[in-house]
Amino acid sequence: MKIQLKDYPLTSTIIKLKTGRVQLTLIKEPDWFLEQLSREDSEGKLYLPYWTYLWESSIALARHVEKLRTHLKDAHVLEIGCGFGLTGIVACQMGAQVIFTDAEHEALHFAESNAEQNSVEQNAHFVQMDWNTPCFNCKFPYILAADVIYEEHHWTPIVTLLQNYLSPNGIALFSEPNRKNAVGFFKVIRDNGFRYQKSTSAVTLDGKTSQVSIYTVQRENN
Ligand SMILES: C[S@@+](CC[C@H](N)C(=O)[O-])C[C@H]1O[C@@H](n2cnc3c(N)ncnc32)[C@H](O)[C@@H]1O
Repeated sequence: MKIQLKDYPLTSTIIKLKTGRVQLTLIKEPDWFLEQLSREDSEGKLYLPYWTYLWESSIALARHVEKLRTHLKDAHVLEIGCGFGLTGIVACQMGAQVIFTDAEHEALHFAESNAEQNSVEQNAHFVQMDWNTPCFNCKFPYILAADVIYEEHHWTPIVTLLQNYLSPNGIALFSEPNRKNAVGFFKVIRDNGFRYQKSTSAVTLDGKTSQVSIYTVQRENN
């Protein structure tokens, strides 16, 4: 089914950055849509399409990416679980060529429209991809992942994706809002030959300020 943004009640927001800003079109009533679009997965578990929200983790990661301009110029970047596309759009603004991926085609449709309205479409490519079944035949020097490790069953496919698609000297950047189970994911990361550095920053979204952690992940032997 062809999705059109006009099928959704829309709102827009501006995310201010140090060097510029990003205008995003978002869904106006994400709670209602989350409920409407929820379904059972193949194992009968409730699946909630969290792309209907903009998450504070994507704002924190976008602000971090903004500091990497000299590294990202012309770099090939993969974003997983891109949602509305904020982090990848900022990577495009820094001069990277970004492949935005998400399992949900509606999310990609919003991400593509948001890339266009921020005039970065020439640096942006969109691929519907489930991280359980990645579909690339190349490696990436940068992988971006904002708020994708909230469920434990995501961990193994995401770590496998890093093993297969992160360049030998590559950097994967994760952000997450200090959920208790994140500790478990970063133990799996260490157990699989990666190391990381962590930093934390405050993000205000919809009037609420929260702490978000950024993890810079690299192979142990680099
Ligand atoms: C919590 S949202 C984060 C969205 C965005 N990165 C942000 O921070 O605003 C998680 C995202 O991961 C996507 N996702 C969930 N399961 C996925 C899977 N198996 N493969 C790829 N993307 C998935 C969802 O569609 C959603 O866009």
